[in-house]
Amino acid sequence: MTAQIIVLNAGGQYCHLIARRIRGLGVSAEIRDLETPVDEVRGAKGIIISGGPSSVYEEDSPKPDPKIFDLRIPVLGICYGHQLIAQYLGAKVNRGTVREYGVAELRVKRAKGIFAGVGNIEKVWMSHADTVIEPPPGFEVIGETDDCAVAAVANPQKRLYGVQFHPEVAHTNCGGRVLKNFISTECHCELDWDPSAAVDRIIQEIRTKVRGRNVFFLISGGVDSTAAFKLCVNALGKEKVVGLYVDTGFMRKNETKDMEGIFRRLGLDNIRFVDESQKFFDALERVYDPEEKRVKIGELFYHIQAEMLRVLRNSGAEWILGQGTIYPDTIETGHSRKAAKIKTHHNRVDLMKNLLDAHSLLEPLSEFYKDEVREIGSKLGLPDEIVWKQPFPGPGLTIRCLCSPSWREVNEDEHLTAVISHYGIWAKRAGLRTVGVQGDSRTYANLALVGGEATLSTLEEVSTQITNAIESINRVAYIVAPRVDNRDSWNIQPGFLTQERVDLLREADSIVQSFMRSHPEMSRNIWQFPVILAPITRGRGESVVLRPVSSKDGMTAEFTKIPLELLQALSRELLQRRGVDCVVYDITNKPPGTIEWE
Ligand code: XMP
Repeated sequence: MTAQIIVLNAGGQYCHLIARRIRGLGVSAEIRDLETPVDEVRGAKGIIISGGPSSVYEEDSPKPDPKIFDLRIPVLGICYGHQLIAQYLGAKVNRGTVREYGVAELRVKRAKGIFAGVGNIEKVWMSHADTVIEPPPGFEVIGETDDCAVAAVANPQKRLYGVQFHPEVAHTNCGGRVLKNFISTECHCELDWDPSAAVDRIIQEIRTKVRGRNVFFLISGGVDSTAAFKLCVNALGKEKVVGLYVDTGFMRKNETKDMEGIFRRLGLDNIRFVDESQKFFDALERVYDPEEKRVKIGELFYHIQAEMLRVLRNSGAEWILGQGTIYPDTIETGHSRKAAKIKTHHNRVDLMKNLLDAHSLLEPLSEFYKDEVREIGSKLGLPDEIVWKQPFPGPGLTIRCLCSPSWREVNEDEHLTAVISHYGIWAKRAGLRTVGVQGDSRTYANLALVGGEATLSTLEEVSTQITNAIESINRVAYIVAPRVDNRDSWNIQPGFLTQERVDLLREADSIVQSFMRSHPEMSRNIWQFPVILAPITRGRGESVVLRPVSSKDGMTAEFTKIPLELLQALSRELLQRRGVDCVVYDITNKPPGTIEWE
């Protein structure tokens, strides 16, 4: 059966989010490659073209089969999809002139069709550099922003629509409405999708795929791997499934002990525990580059499980490998042909992809998003400590302990000073780079440090202004404590993954987690709260970075606005630790920053 809505994937980070939102509205949606021949999409009731990292001007940029525009099936282009439709139908697209990342204000010019019921002014999520500057002939401009005069177009006769913003991300308030209008009033879809049946379907799929073999899992203690493991236990029985929990030495405080207790209570006595911390410290000793860290971690996990599989297979039985990979892991590693690689997830190194190709890898949750996995986990009876556990346990601290091979400077920067001049604060450019995601591509760019008196809303504005105006800066952090001024001299000092630094980070993380537990009213708004150790110094130690984010699915996020007095109280506790020089607060949304610092 063809799904009612086909989403053509141009390689955008949010492509699957589009299908996900459509399914969430009760309508079947499937992802296909952007270049899928027209004959394969004929049965659909509507087509959506996703965003992507390419520019329509690049010679080899991906293009859809142009015949889809003649099918008289409604087509909605999003971001790059919007630019593709516009260019194909004769409009002008300008290259890289305006960069808009984050929230923008959409002024709706025609509240009908896909904009029926949408307010006159709406907050929408933008992430683009190329811009459509005039609509194609026969199209009406139905929405605009300050930086983008052709933010939405419609041609009801041809049944073609385009929006520069991302209706699929949670931060576009009217996004659900726009997608719903498209699938109901434009495409006339029926309700045919019921996710509540997912658990039974997954269990059936596991049985079909495993075909009598046994499954071995690495368990990190997070919801993804635990839910995937439990699904396999339910599908195949405990005796055919074995789990291995690896203590990497980079776990959070008491994490391993807590997990032992939880698994015991769940009756999952088919999970073994091993301490491999020495191997991880040895392998990562002189590594500072984040991608190299990720590849090394992924390979170590691969070798540990290969060894375990070898031992299991010695018994003569057939074993395959199970993993709790979820959908964002596969897209962010550049799994789709057109997607840019943002980072290598630890369960997606090349060695692992070989297993996937050889059908020896079982990933029962690879089509689902975090919030769906949490629902599935609850349905399976997993306790809240696992269902709501913050993502990325296990190797998380290796990534969050930022390293630097040498001394780097933190300097005044004319351009930066000009951007923030009228806010009454100061900013410096730190020679410390972190990973970000902008316009569907990975960035690895500088950090801006901001200090002085400011409100949270000013800080958000400052952060967006800086990252929109200065291409070489993708992240902004505000100095919360101690009180410092513009004259302080800062540096980035050399630092690697030593036991001492990791212990300090673990301690800082534990202080933050327990502080937040005593402020449940605030914690409710926080989706994830990474704590990072960064070698930013005034000469008395390093900086602890607070990175609380509010999100729905980790694909986009806003930095959580925590009252500055509360952050200062937390900072006072952190500053009592020897080795903590300063506490900074990440005021960057995703995009342009990522949730993690690495
Ligand atoms: P970013 O930093 O890309 O993170 O905004 C998005 C979400 O993914 C988590 N994350 C990971 N989880 N293995 C995981 O299991 C990984 O390699 C990994 N890298 C990032 C991150 O914590 C956030 O929730």
